[in-house]
Amino acid sequence: MRTTRMRKSEHLEICLRRDVEAILKSTGFEDVELIHDALPEVDFDEISLKTTFLGKKLQAPVMILPMTGGHPRGGRLNLLMASIAQEFGLAFGVGSQRAGLENPRLMSTYKVRKVAPDVFLLGNLGIPQLLGKKGPQLARYAVESIDADALSIHLNPLQEVVQPEGQPTFRGGLRAISKVCNTLDVPVIVKETGAGINRRVAKKLVSAGAAAIDVSGAGGTSWAGVELHRAGRGLGATFWDWGIPTAVAVIEVAESVSVPVIASGGVRSGLDAAKALALGADLVGLALPVLKAAAKGEKSLRQFLTSFLLELKAAMFLCGCKNLKELCNTEVVITGRTAEWLTARGFSITKLCRGKRR
Ligand SMILES: Cc1cc2nc3c(=O)[nH]c(=O)nc-3n(C[C@H](O)[C@H](O)[C@H](O)COP(=O)(O)O)c2cc1C
Repeated sequence: MRTTRMRKSEHLEICLRRDVEAILKSTGFEDVELIHDALPEVDFDEISLKTTFLGKKLQAPVMILPMTGGHPRGGRLNLLMASIAQEFGLAFGVGSQRAGLENPRLMSTYKVRKVAPDVFLLGNLGIPQLLGKKGPQLARYAVESIDADALSIHLNPLQEVVQPEGQPTFRGGLRAISKVCNTLDVPVIVKETGAGINRRVAKKLVSAGAAAIDVSGAGGTSWAGVELHRAGRGLGATFWDWGIPTAVAVIEVAESVSVPVIASGGVRSGLDAAKALALGADLVGLALPVLKAAAKGEKSLRQFLTSFLLELKAAMFLCGCKNLKELCNTEVVITGRTAEWLTARGFSITKLCRGKRR
């Protein structure tokens, strides 16, 4: 049986070396158009990306998502990504701390406070670690051991069912989340890992006490794909493109709950980010592109984020939006498969396109 530490290291290497993104499904952002404003009443330099997320100020509405830790390379990458998050004023999440729960010596690979004293920092655990009596205690340990501002709990039923040694045991998951939310003094963010969250699940999570939801939809990293590369067999081929496209999930969730919504899963450019924010997201989350840039080094990560934020600002300028509130209320056009998805899910496209979402 492979240890959690070995598995996390294999995931990292596969994501860096192999093609692991959706093939036949896309995020749906290509079906969303922001409306060009030929006379924007704003100077480019006036545009502000600043926001507040769960009480903490951020310089831009971006979170570097949970990915790694539990082995030496993961530890080094966490330090690099966290220090750049500090420099850019972004939120940052360490990867699943399960390896650290199994072997407390590995908890050091998640500790980034010394390079990121002001960052909004998230701990991370999955449902299987939270089931059972000790769940809330383990959640508290995960948060306190890295001095986190919040805990993110990942939902990954697709990965667990596809992974040869997976733990597809989710019965009691909502109760476990609720217990953790009631026990911790910090907010709990619940996230998917690339297959999306629908409105029914979102409402349940909020009633259980989730303070924010990261939809992490389909169209970006495919965990069925990652596990297929790792095992060379199994369900991964059939389920490679499973999930709710990110643009659809953002609308489903933002329209049905009032807690902050994070748009992630295949967000690859500042223009994707602008579209997600215009659809009602409060932040966008980035995983694979940040990992790839970080693996090349500090300069490359800085360059990636600088151009990402420049693209976001350019999109805002071209829509005449000075700040994120204006972007959230801007008009959009939704066409193609995404419009079909949303109509089938009971939404009025005309209403969604009108702006004034949150
Ligand atoms: C190498 C790698 C490791 C990941 N590990 C975790 C994890 O430990 N916990 C978690 O919540 N999500 C994990 N994720 C999922 C991401 O946080 C994110 O939800 C998903 O990759 C979709 O975003 P993307 O398309 O930008 O990659 C991981 C993603 C990558 C690429």
